[in-house]
Amino acid sequence: MDSDRLVMTGLQHGDEEIETSLRPKTLREYIGQMKVKESLGIYIKAALKRRDALDHILLYGPPGLGKTTLACIVASEMGQNIRITSGPAIERPGDLASILTNLSHGDILFIDEIHRLSRSVEEVLYPAMEDYALDLMIGKGPTARSMRLDLPKFTLIGATTRAGQLSAPLRDRFGITFRLEMYSPQELASIVLRSAGILGMQADEEGIMEIARRSRGTPRIANRMLKRVRDYAQVKADGHISKDIAHQGLDMLDVDELGLDRVDRAVLMTMIEKFGGGPVGLDTLAASTGEDAITIEDVYEPYLLQLGFIQRTPRGRVATSFAYQHFRIQMPEKNEAGTQQVDFFSENT
Ligand code: ADE
Repeated sequence: MDSDRLVMTGLQHGDEEIETSLRPKTLREYIGQMKVKESLGIYIKAALKRRDALDHILLYGPPGLGKTTLACIVASEMGQNIRITSGPAIERPGDLASILTNLSHGDILFIDEIHRLSRSVEEVLYPAMEDYALDLMIGKGPTARSMRLDLPKFTLIGATTRAGQLSAPLRDRFGITFRLEMYSPQELASIVLRSAGILGMQADEEGIMEIARRSRGTPRIANRMLKRVRDYAQVKADGHISKDIAHQGLDMLDVDELGLDRVDRAVLMTMIEKFGGGPVGLDTLAASTGEDAITIEDVYEPYLLQLGFIQRTPRGRVATSFAYQHFRIQMPEKNEAGTQQVDFFSENT
């Protein structure tokens, strides 16, 4: 797959530098996720008042919605340091033990993609989260004994796109869980406006709105589009981002007016043309489109579900009437089981 695609919500080359410069540093600056912001603000104030560390926090939701940003904000609002790592980077129990023993009191440990920790690493995390302790095994075989080492009181912030894949013992050890929601076009417009200001760009309200509408509920995509549209505006016009320039720049990137890219359209058209609108299983859909099943589930589906273009049923994914309307295709009539109705008698009766 083309790793530099605009819609991919994972970090891409060049993102880190813009993400860091555009990342809000305080809860006040952070746009959207109102419920999360409100609760988090209260928990932070309470912890500061008690001079205590915050409870462990689990953030989940589709990629690109600001989980790392929120973790950094928590650290700066608490006046503490943050150590950022990820599930796949912590390969062995010893790797985690070394991270934990190097933390100081009150530090924030952020583990991205926490669902990808191995079971043996997870087991080191349980006593660390619960009792701020590290259980070390000394020796091997019948003479082996365990020794408990005290750890500083820290806050773990775990992030995942797939809360369902987290083991129950790990999930239960988080005192606070937040689900991040996709952003509305208005919230995205505020984010793009803020970013354009920081990057010193000239942009119309309508140009901003055009980018916001097409960035599929995701700030990371909105900021990435803003950068590409700036390039287009500088080469094709005077650098000013107007509605027309944003429109043309985004059309050139093959993103349609709802933010659907080539793969979204392939997924929907496969459902409609090859499977009569579904139901079709995720693996079948992946094989038919040549995409990875996890990518479809984590990257493409959340937005198609949010648009109401597909539904998940126990028998598989189904394209809705909205999807048919978007492609201006007549929807076949279906019975309740979701299979196409063939009315043998209608011509004779
Ligand atoms: N940049 C990326 N995400 C943001 C957010 N939620 N608020 C403000 N700026 C952002």
